[in-house]
Amino acid sequence: MLIVRGLVKRFQAHPHGALFAGVDLAVSAGECVAIVGESGVGKSTLLNCLAGLEPVDGGSIRLEGRELAGLDDDAFARLRRMRYGFIFQAFHILPHLTLVQNVALAMWLQGSAEGEAQARARRMLERVGLGARCEDWPRHLSGGELQRVAIARALVHRPALVLADEPTGNLDPERAAGVLDLLLENVREAGAAGLLVTHSASAAQRADRILRLDSTGLHARPPAR
Ligand SMILES: Nc1ncnc2c1ncn2[C@@H]1O[C@H](COP(=O)(O)OP(=O)(O)OP(=O)(O)O)[C@@H](O)[C@H]1O
Ligand SMILES: [Mg+2]
Repeated sequence: MLIVRGLVKRFQAHPHGALFAGVDLAVSAGECVAIVGESGVGKSTLLNCLAGLEPVDGGSIRLEGRELAGLDDDAFARLRRMRYGFIFQAFHILPHLTLVQNVALAMWLQGSAEGEAQARARRMLERVGLGARCEDWPRHLSGGELQRVAIARALVHRPALVLADEPTGNLDPERAAGVLDLLLENVREAGAAGLLVTHSASAAQRADRILRLDSTGLHARPPAR
C-alpha cells in the first residue's frame, strides 16, 4: 500500500546535515506500524512529508503504486481528501457541527451525496460505540469519546493511508488502550495502511510492528535499555 524509499528531509534552521535521511518503509494493506523515537527526531515531520504538508529533499513515496514525491500542492490536497485519514493528539473536531456532521464532512469534502455521507457516518459512529450520540455536540463528549469521533472521521471515506500522531497523548491509560484498539481494528478492517506515532511503549506494542526513527532512518528494533 505504502512504499517509501530513501526519504530525506532538511530544514534551513538545521544546516548541518539532514533532519533524517535514508528513511525506508513498506506498509501493507490492513497493517499498522508504530513509529517511536526521541522527541525532536522528526516523527511529526515524517508524517507531514508523507502527507505532502512538508516538501521532501529526496527519495520516493509510493501510495497504491503512485509516486507522490514531486506532486504539486493542488494534486496532493486532492489526494489527501480522497485517500488519507488523519488522527491527531488534539482531535480537531469542529465544535459547531454535530458528531454525524463532523464525520460526514470527510465525505462531503470529496463530493459524496449528503444522504450517503450521513448514512456512512452513522455506521462509522456505531462502529466506534457512539451510534446513539450521532446528533449530539462535541462539547458534551469526553476526551476519549472525541478521539473515537476522530477515528470515525479518519476512516469513513475508506482511505488508503491513515496517519495518527500521538492519538492517545491526551487520554488516561485505560481510555488510551480502548481508543488504540479501536483504531487498529478499524484500520485493519478498512484495509488501510496505518502509521501510528507514539511515545507510549504500551501503545506501540499494540501495533503490528514497531520502528524507531533516528537521523539515519527507520530501524526495526528499539534500542535495549
Ligand atoms: N518548519 C520547520 N522549520 C525548521 N525546523 C523545524 C520545522 N518543523 C520542525 N522543525 C524541527 O525539526 C525537528 C523535528 O520536529 P518534529 O516535530 O518532527 O519532532 P517529533 O519527533 O515529532 O518530536 P515530538 O516527539 O516532540 O513530537 C525539531 O527540531 C523541530 O524544531
Ligand atoms: Mg511530534
